[in-house]
Amino acid sequence: MKKAFVRSYGCQMNAYDAARMADVLGQQGYAATDSVEEADVVVLNTCHIREKAAEKVYSELGRLRVLKGERRLAGLDTRIVVAGCVAQAEGAEMLARAPAVDVVVGPQSYHRLPQLLDASRAKRVVDTEFPIEDKFDHLPARRNKGVSAFLTVQEGCDKFCAFCVVPYTRGAEVSRSVAAVVAEAEKLAEAGVRELTLIGQNVNAYHGAGPAGVAATLPDLMRAVAGIPGLARIRYTTSHPNDMGDDLIAAHAEIPALMPYLHLPVQSGSDRVLGAMNRKHTGDQYRRLIERIRTARPDIALSSDFIVGFPGETDAEFEETMRLVAEIGFQSAFSFKYSPRPGTPAAERADAVPEGVKSERLAALQARLDAQRHAYQRAAAGRVAEVLVEKPGRRPGQVTGKTPHMLAVQFDAPASTIGSLVPVRIVEAGANSLFGEMLPQVAAA
Ligand code: SAH
Ligand code: SF4
Ligand code: F3S
Repeated sequence: MKKAFVRSYGCQMNAYDAARMADVLGQQGYAATDSVEEADVVVLNTCHIREKAAEKVYSELGRLRVLKGERRLAGLDTRIVVAGCVAQAEGAEMLARAPAVDVVVGPQSYHRLPQLLDASRAKRVVDTEFPIEDKFDHLPARRNKGVSAFLTVQEGCDKFCAFCVVPYTRGAEVSRSVAAVVAEAEKLAEAGVRELTLIGQNVNAYHGAGPAGVAATLPDLMRAVAGIPGLARIRYTTSHPNDMGDDLIAAHAEIPALMPYLHLPVQSGSDRVLGAMNRKHTGDQYRRLIERIRTARPDIALSSDFIVGFPGETDAEFEETMRLVAEIGFQSAFSFKYSPRPGTPAAERADAVPEGVKSERLAALQARLDAQRHAYQRAAAGRVAEVLVEKPGRRPGQVTGKTPHMLAVQFDAPASTIGSLVPVRIVEAGANSLFGEMLPQVAAA
């Protein structure tokens, strides 16, 4: 049987696309493999968000060139496909830079993978169009669903933050219809998925066609999905602060299946830097927004993204980010050194922050964020949480799952609990994971 190796380097949307490409190849008779050496087709689903992410792909392609040559000597053909956001950004340039590549395909046209692979046997091909047809209408059914699944409901971004490539690589904001999302969600639920994360580059700007032809909002969509039998939990990511409307905040109080966790990137605590980033909100507006969200859902766990060393960022401005972090208190966060990206307005700026300063700021910020994460985990010890069991744990006899607040917990329980919600007492907080004990199930009243 032919084999396909598919790897994702980027965000959740990118991981979702990688899974769907594996589905497309599965329909063509390719079995999935984790071993690149035995793959007849290799798909690298790339990310362009920071320089490091993009460069990783070229080092991988260097290794693949050698592997492809070795396989050819053994009489085996290997097709190398570069998909995702680097493919979209660089297009035909990739063919020149990486001789091993056979197909370059963008995030909106990967449903054409079978035709592109066929065509590549005659000539190397590039398809980075944003086609009229909707790729979702041309994708086969999903496999490998697991207990917790992602579902892309929105793509692209119209925000144009000054540092970010996403509006260029993913294009303008487009939302799928409620009917299309519900149909995909129903199939996932039938196959045993219990938790669904609705994803999009800017998911809270969702505005898909609703049942009566009227545009639906993200809360409308969540209500439609919450009614699907079997689905116990809903999450969504990633959101922009300016699209956190009153109805979405209220949804956190009103929709029981919506989990008390919110990833809401703020990027910086300095109003001057936020302005230069084109974020269109201030630090205080973010603080007030968080207050309103916490009023609706007092126990909500918050997460964020931060960029340090944006061009022109001073020590005092960085300290404002540190102050905002101290004031809000995050359960978890991602933080990055600013990385200039070709084609973005910030990349044109001449006032870059020196690399050493960026590193120092990142270390200071991460130390504070880590301390908050550990404090949050320690505070969970002793409590009882409902855990959705996702998969076998690290040791035999153990399983692992997540609390509503997204904390990962390991505990002893039979594999038959996978897919169930079970009460677990958190007994110990480790560095990255919590350890718990399952409590006897309380019969539903
Ligand atoms: N749509 C999401 C996430 C986009 S990318 C949002 O608006 O939040 C994920 C994160 O990568 C961003 O939140 C930002 O913190 C970081 N990022 C984006 N471009 C970057 C760059 N040029 N340098 C460093 N980090 C960047
Ligand atoms: Fe990028 Fe900003 Fe859009 Fe997020 S909101 S994807 S950071 S442009
Ligand atoms: Fe990366 Fe593209 Fe996602 S640049 S973060 S894979 S949208």
